[in-house]
Amino acid sequence: MKHLLTALALATIASPAIAQPTFSKDVAPILQRSCQQCHRPGAIAPMSLLTYQDARPWARSIKAKIAAREMPPWYVDRHVGIQKFKDDPSLSDAEIAMITQWVDAGAPQGNPADMPAPRKFSDDDKWHIGKPDFIVSLPKAYELKASGPDEVYDADVDPHFTDDM
Ligand code: HEC
Repeated sequence: MKHLLTALALATIASPAIAQPTFSKDVAPILQRSCQQCHRPGAIAPMSLLTYQDARPWARSIKAKIAAREMPPWYVDRHVGIQKFKDDPSLSDAEIAMITQWVDAGAPQGNPADMPAPRKFSDDDKWHIGKPDFIVSLPKAYELKASGPDEVYDADVDPHFTDDM
């Protein structure tokens, strides 16, 4: 009986991968949740992933970046420590497998009527992940040049905590 249950459970996990995933129905909702915040006109990423036409040329690159877990950027070690975070944009193994299957099948669009309603965004420069628990201000304004590599800036700040945080 135990073996039968295991086999049933595996069949349930594997079954979503059998139907051919399409952009409109399966991929677009994930891009909305985990990618478009950065991948849309005027935001920080180099290309838009809002529509099928936007995303299709990047299919191979998307497959490589998500398989390597380079996209979406999320630096939490998946094998140690706290795993549950609010607003975690990272993809599950099943989502990565599904998008990979979509790309390997030639990245079909599917039925445009299956597309989710476009995600609404607040202004590019607006803070969008809820009220911060605590705000630490820099001692003085920091100027980042308009072009050039990323910079890592260290500043000593005393947040005046009275307990360990
Ligand atoms: C926090 C912002 C952010 C999120 C979220 C994000 N990206 Fe990116 N993405 C970037 C930036 C910035 C770059 C360019 C720099 C780099 O390659 O690291 C990039 C680069 C890429 C590239 C490579 C483009 C090239 O020039 O080859 C791909 C493909 C990509 N992202 C796909 C995705 C997908 C798919 C998702 C969601 C599953 C996603 N990204 C989520 C910011 C983001």
